[in-house]
Parts: sequence; C-alpha cells; structure tokens
Amino acid sequence: MELNHPPTRYAVVTGANKGIGFETVRQLAAAGVTVVLTARNEKRGVEAVNLLHQSGLSNVLFHQLDVQDAHSIHCLAQFIQTRFQSLDILVNNAGASGVHVDEDGLRAKNIDTEIWLAGKAVDMIQDVMKTTYDSAKQCIQTNYYGVKNLTEALLPLLQRSTSGARIVNVTSLRGELWRVPDERRREELGDVENLTEEKIDKILEQFLQDVQRDAIEANGWQKMLPAYSISKVTLNAYTRLVAKKHLNMYVNCVHPGYVDTDINWHTGPMTVEDGARGSVMLALLPDGGPTGCYFDQTNVAHF
Ligand SMILES: NC(=O)c1ccc[n+]([C@@H]2O[C@H](COP(=O)([O-])OP(=O)(O)OC[C@H]3O[C@@H](n4cnc5c(N)ncnc54)[C@H](OP(=O)(O)O)[C@@H]3O)[C@@H](O)[C@H]2O)c1
Repeated sequence: MELNHPPTRYAVVTGANKGIGFETVRQLAAAGVTVVLTARNEKRGVEAVNLLHQSGLSNVLFHQLDVQDAHSIHCLAQFIQTRFQSLDILVNNAGASGVHVDEDGLRAKNIDTEIWLAGKAVDMIQDVMKTTYDSAKQCIQTNYYGVKNLTEALLPLLQRSTSGARIVNVTSLRGELWRVPDERRREELGDVENLTEEKIDKILEQFLQDVQRDAIEANGWQKMLPAYSISKVTLNAYTRLVAKKHLNMYVNCVHPGYVDTDINWHTGPMTVEDGARGSVMLALLPDGGPTGCYFDQTNVAHF
C-alpha cells in the first residue's frame, strides 16, 4: 500500500540565531517543516544550525539575512527561488530595542516583573535607557522597514504556496493602539479602511524628526521605549494592510509574552519555549484560520 505523505512545507525565520527566533525554528523543524534559519551574522547563524543538526533536526538550513540590507534580502529571495521555488511560512521575528542601555545600571535597579508589565518602570529607567536618533532609526529600519522590505521581496514566492502562505509578524504589547498617547495618531493607525503605507511612512518620518528635536513626549509619542513602541504599532498596522490585500494568505501578528532574552536584558520571566508558541501556532494555522489578527501569545486580542 502506498502512503500519501503531505507535501513538504518551507519556512523562513528571521533573527533566528538566538532567543525566540531560534526556538521558533526548533519547534517548526520538530513539526516536520523545512526551515531556513536566517541570521545577519553568518558565524552565529551557522553555529545555531549546527546545534539543531546535533539534536537530530536535519531539516534546517542556514542563509545569511540582514533585514536592513536590500542586497541581503535579494540574495535570500534568490536562494529560496532556486532551492524550493515557493515559500509557505515567513516568520518576521528579528527585532531591535531602539535604546542604548547601561545594563549594569539597569540590573542594579532590580525592577520587579510586575512593575515592568504594568508600565510603571518608565520613570525609573530614564537615566539608564537612552533613545538617540541613530538608535531610533536602527529600530524602525529593523522592526518596520525590515519586515516590509523582506515581505515584499518574498511575496511572489509566498503566492506560490499551494495552501495559502502563513506570515507571522512578531510584535509586542508595546504596539497595542491604546498605548499611543496622541489621539489623532491612534485613530489614524487604527483606521485600517483608510490607512495606507504612505501614511505610515509619514508617521515614522515625523517620529524621527521629533527624536532629533528632542520632542518625544511633547509630541505625544510613548515615553516607554518610544522607537520600539511606534515600530511595533506600525508593524501591526502593516500586518492588517497585507492581510487585507492578500486574501489567499494568513497574515497575523503576535506578542510572544515577556520572555527571558537579550532584547530585554533578561528581565522577562518566560522561557523561549513558551515565547515561541504563538509564532509557531500562527505559522502552522490550519486552512480557514484567522487572518489580519493580533494575538497575545496564543490568544486573539485587541489591536
Ligand atoms: N523577549 C520579549 O520579552 C519580547 C517581547 C515582545 C516582543 N518581542 C519580540 O520578539 C522578537 C525576537 O526577540 P527576542 O526576544 O528573541 O530577542 P533577541 O534574543 O535579542 O533576538 C533578536 C534577534 O533579532 C536579530 N536582529 C536584530 N537586528 C537584525 C537585523 N537587522 N537583521 C537580522 N536580524 C536582526 C538579532 O541578531 P543578532 O544576534 O545578530 O543581534 C537576534 O537574532 C523581536 O521582534 C522582539 O521585538 C520579544
């Protein structure tokens, strides 16, 4: 008797040399998906792939990817085209915090998880966490334009997925709309019917101008991780625009939880195993599943 094997699924995960991205690759590979683990640093990426191979997951490949670099994006797209001709899953996981941090100073404050989660740490950290024009720009280039440019480059390959591609954008609770202090901006970013990518560009341009003229708080941007926050608010909005435009795909964003990784200087209490669950669930959504939604870990939530 001949057994019908389901077709192989192909995935790309960005920023996967460590943290939630690495664990996402591990869980997807364990579920039988062939995964391209990408990292901007080749040595760190190859080491990560070797670790997975040693644990018996031979269905993981490495390809270099710096999401800020157009040439690097182009090379990855060509690699997927040559190797697989199509792509089923894209997990936009790479992220940057947008701040310069005095890590010893931050540790010395010994801030409780509950205080972080309640947003009450904001005044306590101003002396150890600085947003400069450069750190803000890097953050937006990675968390917003990195996702957008990579998604656009891979769309022709995602279109060829036979069962409807899954796109997962890893966001943060910092990107929830209710946290945007300026009412007009909050409404504009939440009005998906009238929102456009050009409007998002203008908002991000305005933000960077305000960073430059030291007017972050005065002009209604979040005081807590300002660049990171607006990069994730706009990423959520972009997720909704892509979902609206590509009805044959499943395009969602997910807050992974408050996870113990480098990006938050290991202040998060959750394990990466738990932190990757939302991304993996959305990457493996059954046909007919949700699209254009925001998930807090594995639960659908309000944008
Ligand atoms: N940890 C949390 O509590 C938490 C909460 C909410 C959201 N998130 C989101 O979860 C995602 C994963 O973060 P994490 O917590 O796993 O942090 P992490 O361990 O610091 O991982 C971040 C990853 O992004 C990569 N990266 C940064 N800039 C890049 C670029 N230009 N091109 C390609 N890769 C780049 C890093 O590479 P290098 O190693 O080369 O720096 C690293 O692999 C991020 O989008 C983050 O915003 C995390």
